[in-house]
Amino acid sequence: MDRITLSVIKADVGGFVGHSSVYDELIEEAEDRLEAAVKDDLIVDFHVTACGDDLQLVMTHRKGVDSPEIHRLAWETFEACTDVARGLKLYGAGQDLLADAFAGNVKGMGPGVAEMEFTERPSEPVLIFMADKTSAGAWNLPLYRMFADPFNTAGLVISPAMHDGFRFEVHDVKENRRVFFDTPEELYDLLVFIGAPGRYMVKAVYTKKGEIAAVSSTQRLALIAGRYVGKDDPVCIVRSQGDFPAVGEVLEPFTMPHIVEGWMRGSHYGPLMPVPLYHATPSRFDGPPRVVCLGFQIAGGRLVGPRDMFDDPGFDEARRLCNVIADHFRRHGPFEPHRLPMEEMEYTTLPQVMERLAGRWEAIL
Ligand code: F6R
Ligand code: MG
Ligand code: MG
Repeated sequence: MDRITLSVIKADVGGFVGHSSVYDELIEEAEDRLEAAVKDDLIVDFHVTACGDDLQLVMTHRKGVDSPEIHRLAWETFEACTDVARGLKLYGAGQDLLADAFAGNVKGMGPGVAEMEFTERPSEPVLIFMADKTSAGAWNLPLYRMFADPFNTAGLVISPAMHDGFRFEVHDVKENRRVFFDTPEELYDLLVFIGAPGRYMVKAVYTKKGEIAAVSSTQRLALIAGRYVGKDDPVCIVRSQGDFPAVGEVLEPFTMPHIVEGWMRGSHYGPLMPVPLYHATPSRFDGPPRVVCLGFQIAGGRLVGPRDMFDDPGFDEARRLCNVIADHFRRHGPFEPHRLPMEEMEYTTLPQVMERLAGRWEAIL
């Protein structure tokens, strides 16, 4: 059968200016590398883009998921772009390349990965979400809405193709284990876990017949490196129409700007703002966190597109609401719940301050 793999592999290899965007020369370098890979028949097609300070490689190929050749191509592309970033003294050059040498798979080495393999349908619309200044659990709420919430997705109620519901694959990123939930039957069990997105993340969604519907990147940079190395800035691929939610049902969850962790120094809660690509440049307090969505039709592996899906006045109110919420959160300054709880913060002076004050704490009698 004519299987195709869609891989989205991303990394922050240097920001312009600070952590706010990707400089054009990095995009051009990545395009040159991937163009050569098309000529070498390694990949079928590609699209290079950026969300905030994250460089995004969208590729189609016939090597399946977790292909060492494809992961090596991505890794070497990021290395080449890091060299460009170093030459320009861009900010945080090579930030997400946590290993000195490639070891067969970019997972666990810093870059984020979302990949799925499928047989192309007669028409294959896919939506690729990319976020900056937030972490991998940011997709839990929108994926739940798309695939399990009848108030969001009319097709769950009125389309015979979707009425059976979907299966969610949830990863526990602290214990490195996974579990599957069938919806709507196990909706409440699912929500017990994915309502805690710092630990439990929706990795993938399938139809009840086992067809892949959505896949997300669940790498947690801080867990990989054991220290703060920037937010994960996750990506997610969703197939659309027919047996899957319609394009508009996939986009609808982003009209409610939900609160995610990330923003300034990866240590604050704030609203996730859906923006067109030309506004994916978080600058206010290094945020607020952004999400972009590029739509493609896939035809024989060719990426027909992209369409910039949030470049639609239909999302203006969500953006306005984000700014209202952002103002309100910002006014809390260093107080929770704007600032993350102490154990979740990724920058902290707590150990130093504690040490300095060690002798000044007195028992309360
Ligand atoms: C958040 C982020 C930025 C930086 C901040 C400080 O994910 O990337 O908010 O944390 O700009 O950056 P450094 O520590 O590099 O000066
Ligand atoms: Mg950065
Ligand atoms: Mg980033």
